[in-house]
Amino acid sequence: MIGKILKKFDDRFLKSEPRTGDLYAVAALFDTPDEIIHAAEKVSGSGYKRFDVLTPYPVHGMDGAMNLKPSNIGWVGLIAGMSGTSLAFLMIWWMVGVNYPNIFGGKPFFNLPASIPIMFELTVLLSALTLAGSLIAIYMKLPSNANPLMDTEFIKRVTSDKFGIYIEAKDPKFNKDEVEAMFKQLGSSSVSFIHEAVYEVGDTKNPLLNTKFLGALIGSSVITVVITYLVLNVLLFLPPFNWMHYQAKVLPQSESKFFKDGWSMRRPVEGTVARGFIPYEFAGMPDSMVVPTPNPLPVNQKVLDLGKKRYDTYCSPCHGFYGKGDSRLRGQFPVPPTLHSEKVMNWKDANIYHVITNGQNTMPSYASSISRDDRWAIIHYLRVLQRSQNAPDSDLEIK
Ligand code: HEC
Repeated sequence: MIGKILKKFDDRFLKSEPRTGDLYAVAALFDTPDEIIHAAEKVSGSGYKRFDVLTPYPVHGMDGAMNLKPSNIGWVGLIAGMSGTSLAFLMIWWMVGVNYPNIFGGKPFFNLPASIPIMFELTVLLSALTLAGSLIAIYMKLPSNANPLMDTEFIKRVTSDKFGIYIEAKDPKFNKDEVEAMFKQLGSSSVSFIHEAVYEVGDTKNPLLNTKFLGALIGSSVITVVITYLVLNVLLFLPPFNWMHYQAKVLPQSESKFFKDGWSMRRPVEGTVARGFIPYEFAGMPDSMVVPTPNPLPVNQKVLDLGKKRYDTYCSPCHGFYGKGDSRLRGQFPVPPTLHSEKVMNWKDANIYHVITNGQNTMPSYASSISRDDRWAIIHYLRVLQRSQNAPDSDLEIK
């Protein structure tokens, strides 16, 4: 059933007309690998240069039989790859070193190690594209888009079960009758003459310049552009999602004509205090200078829950869940003293607030990660911990 359909398709579309062009090559088919090796040796030994062998699978020893020299395509790959490396190098140097120098993590504007991935990628990309492109160009003999071997009985056989060899008519030693006789003598099962195909392309010899072809090409590009534009910008255009995109605004690091210095990004006015970031008045001062303001938060369940949450998150890794100094950092950071010492028990809340806000010796400041209210809540919770770990006997008395 499928076979029948394929056959119909073949008959309808793939039936080739007899070719009327110049002779392109004389081709011969052989039945076994041994025969094709022998034929290749004979052809190369007789001094033919423009010939090739086509086999359904790689035949061992063929390079030697054909007397092939190493291909030059490697040089093409090398040159393309090196152009990729140097292009990437130049591109990155120009982009980050000259055109838009930007400081990343205090590194030099242009630094080699960071450019290596791009240099590697462009090397691979350019050499791969150039190699694929040049193979297509050489094999297809661009700008022609077909090899005369295509669509012949010869190519059908050598891509399934036979071993083929052909000598091009352009070979200086080529003589149609001699080549035919040689192939027959070598025991070929079929010798064929392959002619160039002549295409009727109307007003010009080059199919690429045919007015109909050019018309169709330009016409279809215009239609594609118009349809793409209409689909993306009219049919699929959803204004609500784009409103913020179109509001009047200056982008970070963009130019602005509004200000004298041409910058769109502004520094805060001297002395500005950002909301929620009231400066700490005892910053950098020793503990003794702290004025003992009382804890501004009430003690209730909500505040204690908040304090526990923040304490467990920010303080417990070093101080332990109960403040006993049982650090979970396994010696990777100095182990802090217990928070149940007489010193801390007797401290005013403001002193503990000072340590959290300002840091103390090796303990860093937590002012940037914990809000003021959260810090005060932590202190209430810390008092609960202290009470729980140092309960006096009187707590057992029923009141
Ligand atoms: C990265 C580990 C680490 C974290 C997290 C940490 N601390 Fe400390 N803390 C220390 C160290 C170490 C010391 C001892 C510093 C010193 O040598 O004076 C200390 C000291 C203290 C002291 C003074 C103790 C004393 O006897 O002088 C208090 C109070 C304190 N921390 C409270 C807190 C609170 C509250 C938090 C959570 C907001 C916290 N710490 C988070 C490491 C830490």
